[in-house]
Amino acid sequence: MSPTLKSPIEVVILAAGKGTRMYSDIPKVLHRIGGKPMLQHVVDCANTLDAKGVHLVVGFEGQKIRDAFPSPAIHWANQDQQLGTGHAVMQAMPAISDESIVLVLYGDVPLIRSQTLADLIVKTEGGALAVLTVISPDPTGLGRIMRDANGKPVAIIEEKDANPEQKKIKETNSGILAGSARKLRHWIGRLQTNNAQGEYYLTDVIAMAVAEGSEVTTVTVKDPLEVLGVNNRLQLSQLERHYQARKAQELLLSGVTLADPARIDVRGELSCERDVEIDVNVIFEGRVTLGNRVKIGPNVVIRNCRIGDDSVVLANSHLEDVLVADKCAIGPFARLRPGTVLNSGSKIGNFVETKKSKIGAGSKINHLSYIGDATIGKDVNIGAGTITCNYDGVNKFETHIDDGVFIGSNTALVAPVKLGENVTIGAGSTITGDVPKENLGVARGRQRNIEGWKRPTKK
Ligand code: UD1
Ligand code: MG
Repeated sequence: MSPTLKSPIEVVILAAGKGTRMYSDIPKVLHRIGGKPMLQHVVDCANTLDAKGVHLVVGFEGQKIRDAFPSPAIHWANQDQQLGTGHAVMQAMPAISDESIVLVLYGDVPLIRSQTLADLIVKTEGGALAVLTVISPDPTGLGRIMRDANGKPVAIIEEKDANPEQKKIKETNSGILAGSARKLRHWIGRLQTNNAQGEYYLTDVIAMAVAEGSEVTTVTVKDPLEVLGVNNRLQLSQLERHYQARKAQELLLSGVTLADPARIDVRGELSCERDVEIDVNVIFEGRVTLGNRVKIGPNVVIRNCRIGDDSVVLANSHLEDVLVADKCAIGPFARLRPGTVLNSGSKIGNFVETKKSKIGAGSKINHLSYIGDATIGKDVNIGAGTITCNYDGVNKFETHIDDGVFIGSNTALVAPVKLGENVTIGAGSTITGDVPKENLGVARGRQRNIEGWKRPTKK
């Protein structure tokens, strides 16, 4: 995506603003879209441009933002007082050489696409200042693009400084611009605060450029949401929906079947092989990979999992940090916790919870069980209501179940414990000791039948 330019690109991302209207203790740019901080979206986009440097200008809660971006590749600049966008850019300029092209981005404009930025940067060749504009049906609050009789941009007027006639202009400033570092340094150094907000407006450089006979050019973005800034949680939610719609569209066009593109949420990276089907209200978080012909039922949450070919996850299941091989069946209502590994053709049924356990090929845990810290071999059948008692309140212990074991319903396996190959456990047992291979293990009270038993009668 990187434009072919002679001059190095330096990206300056403004993120010093307070975000008052978020009513939040979290700095605005750390609020998330698609599970990722807004500022991370912008940094990721900047990183696609092969820039020489990425500079983050922070002020309000700056330390929290620095902590969230530990990458040594980022250059930090502080703006202790928020004196305006021009003043903010100035804070990054000492680290930028005159020969570069400066690209200004906003940390709270997360959905900007790298192709748009590449198109903008190309326009700076030959020394022009390039401004990204947008046609806003409701331009309230935004800077208006002023053009002369020939349609050339001559100035940007902020809403608060605009007269009623200027306020009617629908073409607005996205805030994103690019131009020669030498010229920007020169113009920003001369900014004044004689405006309605008493701020150093970055936008005033347009009129300065025009006054000096330096070319100003514009690129108009097609999708207004690409440059929508987030000031409150309503806008955050609008951008979230827009982002999810984009994701759903990408999935559909890459060959995934979605029951309803409006009812899927991808908060991370989802990659799907061929003929995957995803039902409604499914949430994917972190890194998720779905193999060929995988089917995901409704109301499922999947976080950081890899699911193999032909496996199905039925309704209302929750999977986190799980590896699922091919031809497995999960759910409905299954909870697979971190460290669960399902081998080929294994089956986890309803109301089953697993944690840090390996389930061998073809094994089944069909109903109402808890399996934690267990290693289960091949073709094992775990009866309904089987519990691995893995915790004594202080320490965790392991359960080993060899191939071909059959466990009757309502069994407690008190770990540490080992069941050998082809062991059978009688229903209702509390197993506290190892069972050698091929044995039947039973540990329960014997049944007594009392003949002629009379029920008590009411006194
Ligand atoms: C700015 C533009 C306006 C444009 C609009 C688009 C100026 C003067 N106006 O207005 O033309 O239509 O964005 O959303 O540039 N920031 C700092 N330090 C500051 C001030 C701002 O880092 O001292 C950052 C903010 O965190 C934010 C961005 O710059 O990310 C824009 O600031 P904001 O106050 O929202 O500018 P607007 O008044 O909306
Ligand atoms: Mg704003």
